Amino acid sequence: MVMSPPTLPTTFALGVCYYPEHWPEDRWPEYARRMRELGLEYVRIAEFAWSRMEPAPGEWNWGWLDQAIDMLAAEGLKVVLCTPTATPPAWLIRAHPEILPVDDQGRVRNFGSRKHYDHASPIYREHSRRITTEIAGRYGEHPAVAGWQTDNEFGCHDTARSYGPASRDAFRVWLAERYETLEALNLAWGTIFWSQEYTAWDQIDPPHLTVTEPNPSHVLDFYRFASDAIASFQEEQVEILRRLSPGRWVTHNFMMHFSTFDHYRAAECLDFVSWDSYPLGQVERFLPEEEKVRWARTGHPDLISFNHDIYRGLKGRRGFWVMEQGAGQVNWAPSNCLPAAGAAALWTAQAYAHGCDVVSYFRWRAATVAQELMHSGLLRHDETLDRGGQEVAGLELSGRPNDDVQTPVALLHDYESLWIYDEQPHSAGASYWNQMMLFYGALRSLGIDVDIRHPDSDLSGYQLVVAPALQLMSQERARHLADVGRTARLVFGPRTAYRTPTGRVHEDGQPGPLRDLLGLRLLNFDGMRPGLHTHVGSHLVETWAESYAPSGSDATHTYADGPLVDQAAVVRNGNVTTIGAWSTSLVTEVLTGLLAELQIPTAELPDGVRVARRGGITTWMNFNLESAMLPDGASLGPVSFELRTR
Ligand code: GAL
Repeated sequence: MVMSPPTLPTTFALGVCYYPEHWPEDRWPEYARRMRELGLEYVRIAEFAWSRMEPAPGEWNWGWLDQAIDMLAAEGLKVVLCTPTATPPAWLIRAHPEILPVDDQGRVRNFGSRKHYDHASPIYREHSRRITTEIAGRYGEHPAVAGWQTDNEFGCHDTARSYGPASRDAFRVWLAERYETLEALNLAWGTIFWSQEYTAWDQIDPPHLTVTEPNPSHVLDFYRFASDAIASFQEEQVEILRRLSPGRWVTHNFMMHFSTFDHYRAAECLDFVSWDSYPLGQVERFLPEEEKVRWARTGHPDLISFNHDIYRGLKGRRGFWVMEQGAGQVNWAPSNCLPAAGAAALWTAQAYAHGCDVVSYFRWRAATVAQELMHSGLLRHDETLDRGGQEVAGLELSGRPNDDVQTPVALLHDYESLWIYDEQPHSAGASYWNQMMLFYGALRSLGIDVDIRHPDSDLSGYQLVVAPALQLMSQERARHLADVGRTARLVFGPRTAYRTPTGRVHEDGQPGPLRDLLGLRLLNFDGMRPGLHTHVGSHLVETWAESYAPSGSDATHTYADGPLVDQAAVVRNGNVTTIGAWSTSLVTEVLTGLLAELQIPTAELPDGVRVARRGGITTWMNFNLESAMLPDGASLGPVSFELRTR
């Protein structure tokens, strides 16, 4: 039987995350009516409701969910139903404590919050398939069910990796399949170093609790294993959902800047990708201390859009959803500020502008019980419409076309490079995300729309391909990039091609198989401590500097001082430019020059002002608490946006 692909929304829509099980049933009809009146179309439910669905082993209680779905359907709302595996109930955990995850300190993480399971646990896998089969069997063909979300936020609360017996045993099997012989593993990991050679598979543990740092190749493979465990955990659910819920789409809600599993791999089995956007919590978690106050009430425009662009690119140039959009303060950051007036509306417009198909707010009514009772909802605790809810009521975005974002510029991102980078950052300020944001922020400040793509994906059609932090380089990847470089300009950042796929350094040094393409050989690298800096011309260089011996290429910039003085900092080899210095102004200068060569228009945007294009609509956004002047002289009010039709 050939099944028709699920229908995806062709015009922009809004939704909300809702927990009927938190509220008395007599409130449900009014909630559904108010959701419709607010202009919401999709309602996501049930991702944490396992204990209510199955109060005791094999004892099913579906009446409440039947009723909740029917009441939403009665108002014409579409339901996004979830597999409830993010919260296995107490009876299951107490019967099978071996499901519980173990942290890297060897401590069992107990029942009493959520995400308390090891993805590799065979017994949990069995229960995950069982509950998925039950819920999909019951609601898979319900006319109000538009699609499914698997689980909830893989990796949330640092749960992607477990170091206990379930993962340990599965890791050994995974390694044996990957390497076949211990000789091959020992060679790949370089276990001759410090006498780490293994002579039996069951001598290998997950890399934790070692006296000093564990072997980085061992770590890399454990991260790959844990990532694969998440992907296969999800694939088991998706296979069941596809069988029992024909014509419905399946998605998962990823998180901002999550690093602990390969999102490309996890997205393979999905129809589209979603992510959960909490711009103010993101400021608290990801920005350096000195920038936190500046962005405390609006979020940082580039941090937010970077995630939109990652998720748009996870499955090629495909639409995505924001499954949870914070519309007020969160409860989980060290400080939880109230957003500026207009922020919830601005975040929604920004999501639309970056290619999002549906924005669904978190959550309907603020919880009156348990862990998240300090978190905002569209409704306050007392059911009145909160500030975010009022902004949603005033939005005029629904119904606009969900066109593609088309841009000639791509930024390359992959999780293995991230793991390698962050395992040995070598300088206190250096991290994979920071280095990515340096290049991404430079492009965004020039008004450029950016696709974020996997380095091994089809990159044809791009004119400028920027690889800020591509640490891992295989022969195959090098050949692919050389092909790309025949038609596009390529830019590489510091630490390019430092490592082989097993985490070793290339025997011919860096950049290994990219040597001819880049036209250089790495000379020295300098992981600078905070407070140290050097210069390239007048550009300030902090955190990282590396120098090159060009061969058949041109050194366009050299170091002006410091230990690398007079050595090449930027090398150009035809279409390919390599930048070895960590410097925002230098990176911006080089990118500006290349964009000009390619005749891709740029604009010098004021701090906090951003522009994004989708189909025929250009969205101008002002994240400042004051009005800002756009390049054409028009003024844009504080924390606001303007849509212009091209
Ligand atoms: C998300 C999570 C939600 C809720 C929310 C609060 O990460 O998926 O269930 O906890 O955070 O901000």
